[in-house]
Amino acid sequence: MDSIEIVGGSRLAGSVRISGAKNAALPIMTAALLADGEHVFRNVPNLRDVHTMTRLLGRLGADASYEGGCVQVKASGAIEPTAPYDLVKQMRASVLVLGPLVARCGRAIVSLPGGCAIGARPIDQHLKGLEAMGADVELHHGYVEVIVPGGRLAGSDVAFDFPTHTGTENLKCAAVLAQGRTTLTNCAREPEVEELARVLNKMGARIEGAGTSVISIEGVESLHPVDHAIIPDRIEAGTFMVAAAATAGDVLLEGIGFEPLEAVVAKLREAGSTVEREGDGIRVVGSEVIQPTDIITQPHPGFPTDMQAQLMMLMCLAKGTSRITETVFENRFMHVSELNRMGANILVDGRTATVHGVTKLEGAEVMATDLRASASLVLAGLVAEGTTHVRRVYHLDRGYEHIEEKLAPLGANIKRVSGHA
Ligand code: EPU
Repeated sequence: MDSIEIVGGSRLAGSVRISGAKNAALPIMTAALLADGEHVFRNVPNLRDVHTMTRLLGRLGADASYEGGCVQVKASGAIEPTAPYDLVKQMRASVLVLGPLVARCGRAIVSLPGGCAIGARPIDQHLKGLEAMGADVELHHGYVEVIVPGGRLAGSDVAFDFPTHTGTENLKCAAVLAQGRTTLTNCAREPEVEELARVLNKMGARIEGAGTSVISIEGVESLHPVDHAIIPDRIEAGTFMVAAAATAGDVLLEGIGFEPLEAVVAKLREAGSTVEREGDGIRVVGSEVIQPTDIITQPHPGFPTDMQAQLMMLMCLAKGTSRITETVFENRFMHVSELNRMGANILVDGRTATVHGVTKLEGAEVMATDLRASASLVLAGLVAEGTTHVRRVYHLDRGYEHIEEKLAPLGANIKRVSGHA
């Protein structure tokens, strides 16, 4: 298993192009199940999760392949609506096949995702919506089986108890081929959720209100395949923004606008960085002194939970104390103990971490059990004194396209080392 080795202390400077968004690509790939014919998705990041999804679509009976940033999915033949445990356990986002399968096949058997490193993450909201649309839901032997008597879902009103990202995506996909109108309220408003609606509409769906908390969907008889380029990854961009801020660097992020990142930009400015639009991207110039700032994670447009670990790392070096409250997931502080091993001073009490800024971090052997926590450790390695080894790089590879190959040209002293546990 690979690890990432970083010798800290370099100031980052230069430009980096942002890859396509993982969390937009995954639901869009599953939406291809809704229409016969060949879909082409471009600007798809070369990530482990994308390859897992390609395999899952293949297991369901679709022809799916990835080459050079392009995913092709052809779902013309018979679809076997069963998502097995061995793939779902590798990637929780596999649950995204549920809505498309129920809409296309009138039934689906999907392994329950179960707990994961960042929390229990149930799918009760997805199931409640499908039941409201006329489906019968049964749980047995670790699988959820959804059957639609009569084969076609019926449009309905569904109010989410709280905004769920993949829940909103699953129900959108379920409703586009339903009989009649579905209204979803209290929807997730993340840019990736909106992007899925854009693609579904391009396929012939009739969705209104995408990107808002109330979405109205008039079911249609059929959809057609599309050729579509995926939006840039706001979390990859945010991670590089923190890299620039933490190293007092000067980095231009190419191909990403301000809109999806406003909450992150606001916090970086509070921390003392200069963040400006430049060309088709964003330029971040870090300051020598990092100011403390408090953060509360929230569904979009609030501060994203997927940037919490990275901002916490930045606050470790702030001149003062910051409070970081995680409200979206109940167990998303796995980076804390590793950052403390590198010399940080962070205390966790329930859902709030109090970060007392320190003057330096020290390189260490570290590992994390989830994707964004691993990213925060790479960032810590960039500023730490000495050498840091980040283990279990497969977490990073789920969400970052060779992060070391993008950081090295900016001046980071970073490389991938094969063969570590
Ligand atoms: N929840 C329930 N019941 C449900 C659905 C969600 O209780 O039926 C809870 C979850 O347990 C969690 C909260 O609601 O506490 C929010 O979960 P949400 O459903 O919004 O998260 P998700 O759809 O499982 C997606 C992203 C995550 C990102 C979150 C929040 C994908 C594939 N995953 O997860 O991305 O953190 O939304 O924005 O889109 C990542 O990329 O590192 C990542 C974890």
